[in-house]
Amino acid sequence: MKVIAKKSELTAAIEELKQAGKTIGLVPTMGALHAGHVSLVKACNQNNDITVVSVFVNPTQFNDKEDLKRYPRTLDKDVALLEQNGCDYVFAPNVEEMYPEEDTRIFDFGHVGEVMEGARRPGHFNGVGQIVSKLFDIVKPHRAYFGMKDFQQIAVIKNMVRQLHYDLEIVPCPIIRESDGLAMSSRNTLLSPEHRSNAPHIHKVLEEATHLTAKMTVDELKQWVIDEVNKNPYLEVEYFEIVDDTELQTIRDWSENNVKVGCIAVYAGPIRLIDNIVF
Ligand code: PAJ
Repeated sequence: MKVIAKKSELTAAIEELKQAGKTIGLVPTMGALHAGHVSLVKACNQNNDITVVSVFVNPTQFNDKEDLKRYPRTLDKDVALLEQNGCDYVFAPNVEEMYPEEDTRIFDFGHVGEVMEGARRPGHFNGVGQIVSKLFDIVKPHRAYFGMKDFQQIAVIKNMVRQLHYDLEIVPCPIIRESDGLAMSSRNTLLSPEHRSNAPHIHKVLEEATHLTAKMTVDELKQWVIDEVNKNPYLEVEYFEIVDDTELQTIRDWSENNVKVGCIAVYAGPIRLIDNIVF
């Protein structure tokens, strides 16, 4: 496994591999890697000759400066974990390398970029678009792997791939959870012990909700989820929406013929957690 910090060096290495007929898979991450990230690396490894994992805490997608400051950075550990899990190239650039000048590009992802996270985190998806498009340009992968933990991010990236005509496949991968149900996240390490032990309540409520669709309307169930999560004094719901899995339009009625996903954002003290579940 090689660790590379320079765009030009990675591009040159990948070009040579592509010349030799190798397929290239990319797993973009912000590091502080856990089993969720590793599952993407394994999926990538299974379906491509070469696995490239980027580790870069992208400043342009943080709408909250404190969140950027406290975001965990554990590159040495990340490199060791990637070495054990079939990664071929780690791309770990610094901010200057990715943003030698300010990125002034403004993306318009339409509706999928405006709802939920888009409404609560202004500029977040624009920053994701900036960094992911740069990574696609540098690596030019055949496939790129994203976790369904960030369900809306996948819809945004797919929109970008269509708009910019990237010739690659986006591969969504299932959410990996802790044994108590909490969706794995790099931010979980920032939770206080009390918040950590109460955070699994989020998934528990979502899971219960999937069994209640015969008993409640969509609106009733949404309110039920919000009330149930908020009953826990360590948690405060920011939003809970039930949307279809491609256009992210609000579901009005259970009889609609589409895949329905319940998406939640919750504050556990100062730490913001997101999760989702398919109904
Ligand atoms: P990050 O939060 O590090 O996540 C990197 C990838 O891992 C994302 O595709 C995310 O959905 C996936 N992932 C995180 N937790 C997961 C879990 N519990 N189960 C399965 N997959 C999980 O998402 C980002 O970074 C950034 O926005 C990025 C795309 C790298 C752009 O900067």
